[in-house]
Amino acid sequence: MNRPINLFEYEVTAKQHLEPMALEYYQSGALDEITLRENRLAINRYRLRPRMLVDVSQRDLATKLLGQTLNVPILIAPMAFQCLANSEGEIATAKAAAISNVVMVLSTLSTKSLEAVAAQRQNTPQWFQLYIHRDRSLTETLVRRAEAAGYEALCLTVDAPMLGKRESDRRNQFTLPKTMELANLSMSNLAIPQTSQESGLFAYFAQQIDPSVTWKDLEWLQSITSLPVLVKGILRSDDSLKAYEHGAKGIIVSNHGGRQLDGAIATFEALTEIVETVGDKIEILVDGGIRRGTDILKALALGAKAVLVGRPILWGLAVEGMKGVAHVLQLLIEELDLAMALCGCASIEDIEPSLVKINY
Ligand code: FNR
Ligand code: LAC
Repeated sequence: MNRPINLFEYEVTAKQHLEPMALEYYQSGALDEITLRENRLAINRYRLRPRMLVDVSQRDLATKLLGQTLNVPILIAPMAFQCLANSEGEIATAKAAAISNVVMVLSTLSTKSLEAVAAQRQNTPQWFQLYIHRDRSLTETLVRRAEAAGYEALCLTVDAPMLGKRESDRRNQFTLPKTMELANLSMSNLAIPQTSQESGLFAYFAQQIDPSVTWKDLEWLQSITSLPVLVKGILRSDDSLKAYEHGAKGIIVSNHGGRQLDGAIATFEALTEIVETVGDKIEILVDGGIRRGTDILKALALGAKAVLVGRPILWGLAVEGMKGVAHVLQLLIEELDLAMALCGCASIEDIEPSLVKINY
């Protein structure tokens, strides 16, 4: 087999390895998928203004985030149900993250337990993504378990008080195969329901996820943990300021990969106003449509500290398990390294705003 040479080829190849229900769950966005497409278009509207005759013979991709050194400014986005891609699921992703020295953010809705995933970490930090369930004691238990297992930050996802309408999931009556479970929640007897007229995941959100969550709950969360909390799913500068005022240590500028509110602005459109508002106060990360090393360079030039990569990780996992995920990361890192050389950047600090220009 010829290995894919970029993340788009991974997507094409992954389609041959996935059941239709899993493939459509992974790839789809909400409604007409306008936001899903717009994430890519907004990145491509930015063009690079490379700097010449800089010594780029030595390049350093390391960066600091929440006081820690990351080898590269790339994280693995939290994504549910990774056993749909590969029997090892989140364990394989965690192994790839550890050998690649990349922070993995584990979803609340993982199909391997947070403890089992933590056991793969070696020396690479891991973060945990939190969905606040209606049952607050259950939510608190998740936080305690994440702390005990050594997760180093929590990402509170705030763009999903209800699940977006993904039409293929409804058509497929999306649910998990009987062999898979909500590994962090099954002890509380929670499962994705089988429904005859809806996506089971949509029904799960409606029943279990708390749609009344507000900024007060961000304070509540921080009052019960000493872990830094990042808020995932912010798209406006006023919300970014509220996140800061309510104690968040970081923001992930995200529209959930176009899976929640269709018609929401692209993340690269939102990034600038958010960087201007809180960029000097808290960490700003961005996700949505990051597929090339040049996309990462653009994100950093616009003021993000790091990016999260979503679907391409699942494509790598489907194609070749742990090796596929590691290869996807390696491709991105190689491309970022090359983009830096060609832009005249020897280090991450050299990536500054004048390197990008928006092309209307
Ligand atoms: C997600 N995402 C997500 N986010 C989150 O906070 N908790 C979750 O459980 C999930 N689950 C999930 C499943 C699948 C299949 C996808 C594709 C995405 C959103 C994810 O963290 C991220 O924001 C986007 O995927 C980023 O966009 P790209 O890179 O996929 O374009
Ligand atoms: C998704 C949820 C689980 O995007 O976040 O499918």
